[in-house]
Amino acid sequence: MQKGNTKISMAVIRRLPKYRRYLSELLEKNIHRISSRELSKIIGFTASQIRQDLNNFGGFGQQGYGYNVAALYEEIGKILGLDTIYKTIIIGAGNLGQAIANYTNFGKSGFVPMAMFDINPKLIGLKIRDIEIMDSDEMEQYIKDQDIDIGIICTNKEQAQDVAQRLVKSNIKGIWNFAPTDLDVPENIMLENVHLSESLYTLSFLLKHRDE
Ligand code: NAI
Repeated sequence: MQKGNTKISMAVIRRLPKYRRYLSELLEKNIHRISSRELSKIIGFTASQIRQDLNNFGGFGQQGYGYNVAALYEEIGKILGLDTIYKTIIIGAGNLGQAIANYTNFGKSGFVPMAMFDINPKLIGLKIRDIEIMDSDEMEQYIKDQDIDIGIICTNKEQAQDVAQRLVKSNIKGIWNFAPTDLDVPENIMLENVHLSESLYTLSFLLKHRDE
């Protein structure tokens, strides 16, 4: 990612949601000002790491004052693009697709679920909350008509690449992929994968080696 002449690494970008989460907790506790040293204690990154990360975006701290929690929270939200409304669709209305549709917090953060798509006639026409499950054949037209930003792939892995290709052809901007497969998409399509099992297997490794 480029901003001016500065290259911001993905490692920094991946830390930003964590900063934002901790800042939100501070705000809930009515803490409005914090030094990078104090922030370091609660987040677990070094103070210099925190200063370096936030300097990538111009830095928000003031010498001798620390960070204004509310301002920093807001700025990080803006940097992450959370001041934007994204229209999303869920492809695959099975267990996972329905769980995501039922989770209202994504909508509250600006990721508005517009519709779901499936190939199973038993599901087509049903609603999860107020989100309709539509026939997968209607997906391309719907994306164009509604100017959908993000496709959330919750199909079986065998179908995921085909679904991704259809999303790409319909000019989707981003894909949030839950299917356990590496998707091949053009560079201008932003792709994020979520693989819960990889995290679970890491936990398994840690449990297996905890006494070493
Ligand atoms: P499921 O079988 O309950 O749901 C899959 C749905 O996709 C079905 O309703 C099926 O009809 C639909 N589908 C298949 N092909 C389609 C197509 N071309 N267009 C539209 N819909 C289509 O499966 P479940 O449990 O919901 O899992 C869904 C996917 O998510 C699987 O690939 C699974 O491995 C993955 N998964 C990933 C996790 C993660 O951490 N990333 C966690 C749990 C599941």
